[in-house]
Amino acid sequence: MEENISDLNYIKERGNEFKKIMLMYNCALKEIETKIQIISDEFQMLYSYNPIEHIKTRIKSPESIIKKLKRKEYPITYNSLVNNINDVAGIRIICSFIPDIYKMVEMFDKSTDINIIKKKDYIKNPKESGYSSYHLIATVPVSFANGIVDVKVEIQIRTIAMDFWASLEHKIKYKYSEELPKNVQKELKECSKMANKLDRKMSKLGGNLIEEFEQDMANNKKNKEQKFLKSYIPLIVDKITQNA
Ligand code: GTP
Ligand code: MG
Repeated sequence: MEENISDLNYIKERGNEFKKIMLMYNCALKEIETKIQIISDEFQMLYSYNPIEHIKTRIKSPESIIKKLKRKEYPITYNSLVNNINDVAGIRIICSFIPDIYKMVEMFDKSTDINIIKKKDYIKNPKESGYSSYHLIATVPVSFANGIVDVKVEIQIRTIAMDFWASLEHKIKYKYSEELPKNVQKELKECSKMANKLDRKMSKLGGNLIEEFEQDMANNKKNKEQKFLKSYIPLIVDKITQNA
């Protein structure tokens, strides 16, 4: 486990250990993706509503892993990789509305087989760049022939607008080999504020629908209730379950 992996050729030629580690992360991603898919399917069936727009997974490339270990001045060893790098396996959940993100976090909190070890709310506290998302570092148990391993996974939860901003900002950053010019940084931050405004406006529209639904419930208008159940229900799910 303690061999030096700073040389990429070493990984390519003798990287059996590396392959095993990557397999472990790949399995963890499959495991967690299935769990999220089940939550999503259940929501869809019960409420004709799904808070998840789509899910993306990725495994960090060997080049990026080594670059990060070097940047953070961690030892370049397999042990160090497993202990210090939290985002070798990454999953990104794109939700419809801001409240959906917190709903997802709550579901992860309640989940007995996903163990949350770190939470970062960049929605309440966006990064200096303007970046906004909810991050979780979690472990998922993966069952192998030799036993169960708790594997670390980084979960990023964001809205479509947050994802739009982050994807394009990432591409723009790539275009400049050096640090972004100050004016570009400033404009990107403004764009992030615009994306946030759009998100809040759309979430509020979702919220308005909920208020209307609650009024209808109080007035016992069953037909409207049915109509609403077929349409869009972000925050109300808990209430419906409680009243059932
Ligand atoms: P890293 O060493 O970059 O992983 O930082 P960290 O361990 O402190 O994690 P952090 O909470 O900053 O989140 C890291 C991940 O969030 C990155 O790999 C990106 O996917 C995303 N991210 C963080 N900041 C930005 C940003 O300014 N722009 C974009 N596009 N993505 C970001
Ligand atoms: Mg990262």
